[in-house]
Amino acid sequence: MVEHNMTPGSSHNYAREIWQKDKDHHLHPWQLFDSFHEEGAMVMDRAEGAWLYDIDGNRYLDSVGGLWCTNIGQGRSEMVEAVAEQMLKMTYASPFVDMTNAPAAELAAKLAELAPGDLNHVMFSCGGSTANDSAFRLIQYYQNCRGKRNKKHIIARDASYHGSTYVSMSIGGKKADHPPEFDYIRDTIHHISSPNYYRNGDGQSESQYLDFLVDELEQKIVELGADNVAAFFAEPILGAGGVVVPPDGYHQRTMEICKAHDVLYVSDEVVTAFGRLGHWFASKDVFGLQPDIITCAKGITSGYLPLGATIYSSHIHDVISEPGHGRYFSNGYTYSGHPVSCAAALKNIEIMERENLFEHVKDVGQYFEKKLQTLNDLEIVGEIRGVSLMQCVEFVADKSTKAVFPDHIDISKTISAIADKKGLLVRPIINLNVMSPPLIIDKQQIDFVVETLRESIEEATVQLKKEGHLS
Ligand SMILES: Cc1ncc(COP(=O)(O)O)c(C=O)c1O
Repeated sequence: MVEHNMTPGSSHNYAREIWQKDKDHHLHPWQLFDSFHEEGAMVMDRAEGAWLYDIDGNRYLDSVGGLWCTNIGQGRSEMVEAVAEQMLKMTYASPFVDMTNAPAAELAAKLAELAPGDLNHVMFSCGGSTANDSAFRLIQYYQNCRGKRNKKHIIARDASYHGSTYVSMSIGGKKADHPPEFDYIRDTIHHISSPNYYRNGDGQSESQYLDFLVDELEQKIVELGADNVAAFFAEPILGAGGVVVPPDGYHQRTMEICKAHDVLYVSDEVVTAFGRLGHWFASKDVFGLQPDIITCAKGITSGYLPLGATIYSSHIHDVISEPGHGRYFSNGYTYSGHPVSCAAALKNIEIMERENLFEHVKDVGQYFEKKLQTLNDLEIVGEIRGVSLMQCVEFVADKSTKAVFPDHIDISKTISAIADKKGLLVRPIINLNVMSPPLIIDKQQIDFVVETLRESIEEATVQLKKEGHLS
């Protein structure tokens, strides 16, 4: 898997210098201070399609898709040209108050066309966290405009991830993301169970478990008082919280509960939109859910440039924009509707349409699901789950009891480190390896992912036995 890149940037000294500068000056998201002091970061240098190359020229199949985002694959000259053209024409114009630009207007209209039902209005932001932050502020504004000033409480789920601003991190329910050194909003944000049947089903049938989950949401609304609850935030499939696919019917039933209690439903599609499950948006097309707000980012530009969008219903818009109140909407950013990011999104969407990419996703997605299931025979594989090109493998120390490995073993990192050496990137999250490859991945590459992952799990198993962690 080692290839040698002959560009000047690949020299050993240069690589070392970059590694050192990064270690000395760059604070990374989720940086683990203790090990970073020693190890620093892996320096990535170039990419092509689904492949990444590090600064020493080693090649990796990026089965993580960057961070669930490189949907159309890297290095497309058409994207570069669209971005360069827009930059030369006009790099920037303020989006504030009453000024706009053509790419932002075109993209807003396109998203309104692609999003389900009456989600006809769009607020742009810089990524997924700010898309959720903006959704939260929009909800406050909407509830206050309609005189429901007590509707302040938000319900979300354990193990959910919604971003890392103060608000979006507080809405998130992943315990591992809430170290005590940070503070969180605790009084108005509440978490109910992650719909993880494998981990939390506790001997119930799946339909009994579904009844429990739906009932739990309703009980929480009743406990807080429906007049005090503003919104429910949910990813259609919990991503970073473990690729958790809720039981069939969960989405519609939770939506009905929300509607019955006048609670807005926010579907966080930062990962699932733009083809990951073979559709523009998964809420309606995959799960039969019509939310009030969809937030998205990542695949909207396939990672070529930062962009987020909060797409919301005409019903909400009619309330907040009702004439005669002298209202103004003091939310947004310098880079909301940035013309270059929006031009990238428009070209990305055009490529997805022209190449009929979602038909390809349906084909390779099914293939990926089937192929990954072949790993079930491995001793430490507890569950393989996901939909289409959003998958994970959960590791257990004992298949029958589902016992987890102790934290210090860091099982997913042990396996991903072995895979790295074999030229495969998988994302380690606690006891899972997560995969969300670029949508352009082909069957041969999928075979490589699954075979390499098998070898890596087998090697890790031998290592664990040698160290006495497995009998
Ligand atoms: C479901 C979900 N929401 C929000 C975010 C935050 O997006 P960003 O990192 O672009 O701010 C993420 C990021 O992984 C995500 O997975």
